[in-house]
Amino acid sequence: MTDTTSNQMWGGRFAAGPDAIMEAINASIGFDRRLAAQDIAGSRAHAAMLAATGIISDRDAEAIREGLLTVLSEIEEGRLRFSTALEDIHMNVEARLRELIGAPAGRLHTARSRNDQVATDFRLWVRDQLDAVEQGLLALIRAFLVQAEAGADWVMPGFTHLQTAQPVTWGHHMMAYVEMFARDLSRVRDARARMNECPLGAAALAGTSFPIDREMTAQALGFDRPCANSLDAVSDRDFALEFLGLASICAMHLSRFAEELVIWSSAQFRFVALSDRFSTGSSIMPQKKNPDAAELIRAKVGRIFGANVALMMVMKGLPLAYSKDMQEDKEQVFDAADNLMLALAAMEGMVRDMEAQRDNLEAAAASGFSTATDLADWLVRALGMPFREAHHVTGALVAKAEAKGCDLPDLSLDEMQAVHGDITEAVYDVLGVHNSVASRMSYGGTAPDQVRAQVARWKERLA
Ligand code: ARG
Repeated sequence: MTDTTSNQMWGGRFAAGPDAIMEAINASIGFDRRLAAQDIAGSRAHAAMLAATGIISDRDAEAIREGLLTVLSEIEEGRLRFSTALEDIHMNVEARLRELIGAPAGRLHTARSRNDQVATDFRLWVRDQLDAVEQGLLALIRAFLVQAEAGADWVMPGFTHLQTAQPVTWGHHMMAYVEMFARDLSRVRDARARMNECPLGAAALAGTSFPIDREMTAQALGFDRPCANSLDAVSDRDFALEFLGLASICAMHLSRFAEELVIWSSAQFRFVALSDRFSTGSSIMPQKKNPDAAELIRAKVGRIFGANVALMMVMKGLPLAYSKDMQEDKEQVFDAADNLMLALAAMEGMVRDMEAQRDNLEAAAASGFSTATDLADWLVRALGMPFREAHHVTGALVAKAEAKGCDLPDLSLDEMQAVHGDITEAVYDVLGVHNSVASRMSYGGTAPDQVRAQVARWKERLA
């Protein structure tokens, strides 16, 4: 809708309406309509405070309150037609309120500006997202714990450089992700605690001459306290950047397990079977089962980190206080939040459904001379050899096995003794993968008992 008359909210000094292009670049209603519920909650808290402090009458406040509830239900039911000429959600709501209740609507904006209004709405929205991400992370962590507990003693190859390094346990690998996502969770909680201050009442930038009660509005909206500096309150978006930062890190963690699932589910690895629920087929190759959900999760970090960079660039170098640049904050955060929630939910489903292929894991764990370190450690312990020398002797044994086309335990004692005469039969005890993982009892190590202890610790913490 193009309006040729000047804007009813701020058009007092304007003779003509905006150019159509101006309206198109200026309007945010296309996306900030997602703030409708937060906007109306903020307005209700503000109106109640204005009445409690005697700035407006109780009658007007009551008319505003009822009118706002009507506007909210109209929006929720999709009955309100938004107008681009009214720019944003704040003015669309207020204009509808005026249609519904008349003159008292004009008193709602007393001691307030769209600058503190949008800062408040957006904080409320981001806070809801932090709460949703917290729940998503908890569910994902629980899914990893179930896997870890089931497979505390299943052996698999541990990799460095994606080359077989040492045997580890399935449970240990799962618990590594529990640690990562638990740190993401603590970042969510930290960010929430820091951002939970209320900008409302900062007005345009300087505060207001009306005797407002900022504690009252802060409390009504569930904030811990009002923001202490009005310039800061309307002009920073660091809470949104913290959200994008923690979302980026979380998405990065998700992408790493997603990549492992892509590798592990391949015909070459066959470490896991993914459920049909999170896979797709190929229209031409009947044998295919593609890990699409994992691939898409792997990709999400790109757009989420992109949003982080985009908003960082928007905010960089902006002088205090509000600038219209900041209207560009919302789409990035909306997109990142939607995609993070989707990725968390899809990953939780995949982790719950995936089936570790124990036999394949164990066979792979034993190949690639994965117990070479155990052999070197045995030479140190049993023969008192310096580790550097033990490393060298083990290397020679690996070369011998490689030349023979066998694994370390397949070398005969004679063959071993040809490399170093003091090696005894006892060496074979450390060459098995189960003995290898069971021996790694150091705190945080891969031994099944260590894994079980960590599972128990996390279950208790999350109870
Ligand atoms: N739509 C604006 C935003 O998202 C609301 C604040 C506008 N304030 C102003 N002084 N023009 O940032």
